[in-house]
Amino acid sequence: MSNITTMIAEGRGKRLYATENPDEAVVYYRDETFAFHGLKRGRIIGKGEINNLICEYMFTLLTEKGVPNHFIKRIDNRCSLVKRVEMIPFVVKVRNIAAGSLARRMSVPDGTKLRNTVIEFNLKDDELEDSMVNVTHITAMQLATPKEVRRMEQMSYLVNEILSECMRDINIELIDFRLEFGRYKGQILLADEVSPDTCRFWDAATHEPMDLDRFRHDLGDVAEAYRDVLHRLTGNVLKNTEEEM
Ligand code: C5P
Repeated sequence: MSNITTMIAEGRGKRLYATENPDEAVVYYRDETFAFHGLKRGRIIGKGEINNLICEYMFTLLTEKGVPNHFIKRIDNRCSLVKRVEMIPFVVKVRNIAAGSLARRMSVPDGTKLRNTVIEFNLKDDELEDSMVNVTHITAMQLATPKEVRRMEQMSYLVNEILSECMRDINIELIDFRLEFGRYKGQILLADEVSPDTCRFWDAATHEPMDLDRFRHDLGDVAEAYRDVLHRLTGNVLKNTEEEM
């Protein structure tokens, strides 16, 4: 990790470091794993390396397809260089199939088909259990302008098209995912990560989860599933090494 100065933030499964360049930051991907608003914690050995490589693949693809994002380059196995954005304090969830909290809220089984894509906004606040908010809450609380929200929605639909196609090609169904955005020099950039920690991926043939749900619901073979996603995307057969603490 070169020219890193101080740690700016520590999130779920990642650390963010400042660099000597104020416009850039270094993301360090950890094996540490959180679920259910931090109530369940654990480690998935090698996850940090896998997610770093999956994010490199995803952000490179999204850049090629015209989605502005924070990714600059991968530095090593666990670190990537990104643009230092001002994070917007809510997330966008995009859902193609009902699962997780939507399935619970609507009282339908996981896997229920949806007539159209569902878009949700949630605060990033564990204590508030990431409360769902709508556009009028966001603008009333001045979390973002109406124009920014429209741009985030438009980018989220585009990401959904690109990722759904990419995953279909490797026999994985994109059930839903969560995106985070940031402001950078007057532009909205896709930030954070796009990985099995933030997406629901189901094997198209077996409908087996290949994502954090394996950890959430103690389904076993968590690292194996993440590694399989990476392998199908890139052909990379990664031998994981445990994170140095
Ligand atoms: O739990 P829920 O069904 O609302 O999650 C929707 C999507 O958002 C899932 O892909 C899940 O992995 C992701 N998510 C996330 N971080 C959270 C909560 C959900 O990335 N804190």
